[in-house]
Amino acid sequence: MLKLVGVNKRLGEFHLRDIDLAVLPGEYFVILGPTGSGKTVLLETIAGMYPPDAGRIFFAGKEITCLPPEERRIGFVYQDYALFPHLDVRQNILFGLKSRKIPAAAREGKLGEVVQLLGIGHLLARNPSTLSGGEQQRVALARALVTEPQIFLLDEPLSALDPRTREGFQRELQRIHRATGTLTVHVTHDFAEAAFLADRIAVMQRGRLVQVGSPEEIFYRPSSLFTARFVGLRNVFAGEVLEAKGHRLFRAGRLELAVETGFTGPVGCVLHPEHLQLSPTPTGGTTCLPGRVTAVYRRRFYLEVMVDAGEELVLWIPPAGHEHGFHRPPQVGEKVWCVIPPAAVHLFPRSED
Ligand SMILES: Nc1ncnc2c1ncn2[C@@H]1O[C@H](COP(=O)(O)OP(=O)(O)OP(=O)(O)O)[C@@H](O)[C@H]1O
Ligand SMILES: [Mg+2]
Repeated sequence: MLKLVGVNKRLGEFHLRDIDLAVLPGEYFVILGPTGSGKTVLLETIAGMYPPDAGRIFFAGKEITCLPPEERRIGFVYQDYALFPHLDVRQNILFGLKSRKIPAAAREGKLGEVVQLLGIGHLLARNPSTLSGGEQQRVALARALVTEPQIFLLDEPLSALDPRTREGFQRELQRIHRATGTLTVHVTHDFAEAAFLADRIAVMQRGRLVQVGSPEEIFYRPSSLFTARFVGLRNVFAGEVLEAKGHRLFRAGRLELAVETGFTGPVGCVLHPEHLQLSPTPTGGTTCLPGRVTAVYRRRFYLEVMVDAGEELVLWIPPAGHEHGFHRPPQVGEKVWCVIPPAAVHLFPRSED
């Protein structure tokens, strides 16, 4: 297990703050955060490039806070790959082993294994400057893996690739991880990438880890407006919960909603658009808000309907709409009811943002 306890690091204006983190053996752990939030500094601190100002780092039960980087058995793949331009692919991959004084025969054996794992046998004699971005990335991964690291650190390894290549690479990283079982910490600002790869995600904001959880927890139960917005959720409102005649009411601007919650006072609220329903008539039993359709967008597998229900709401409904009593797509200007089942509503106390 990789464990960080109360780790702090100041670099100029930036402050990595009170990082407490436990990554389990074999886990694929993703750090998700916007540019400048401190993701690279955190990885470099784990790798030993910066000594923390405070706090301790442990791996497999031993303290490594002051261990030099080369004694940490870490494989680091950088944001920009950082291949050596004067070495060919083969020499680039073998570089990490040479400095470790491993016998020639064993070196060749390990080289063969990673070359096969990454399918780069045909590239071995090439110079890095002649490789495509995806090929460079494979070589960078091979160079890190050949040392058989106990911790694999990946700093936005896919950000320079086009979307299609990136998706292919995500599957590749998953396959490599399953084959090697190495504890991995992967940094990205892309929630879809994090959701695909991660066992667990930590969300980073201004040098702090603000939420740690499974992709489902982060997406369906964000703990702050920052996380909700950063992962691209829709219908995110800053409001408050009020007591009204024994009921609790969520209010944000002109939106009012009866809610069942233990919270009162300032809260954030997410209404998941895929769990909302549209109805031509009011329905009994569930919270139901009248509104008027302001726009209808055809998406690949659903319709995105915008409704002015005090504030603007987004609903994702099946294209035919029959399920909700519509026999044709809702029309702009039409009066409708937004059905809001309790499961669609996620509330959280709001302090910052
Ligand atoms: N050696 C340093 N000295 C001073 N400030 C630094 C140093 N290294 C990083 N910083 C600052 O720390 C902040 C966090 O940087 P970091 O590179 O960790 O961000 P990041 O989350 O990796 O962003 P990106 O997604 O753009 O790579 C930035 O504001 C950066 O300018
Ligand atoms: Mg970075």
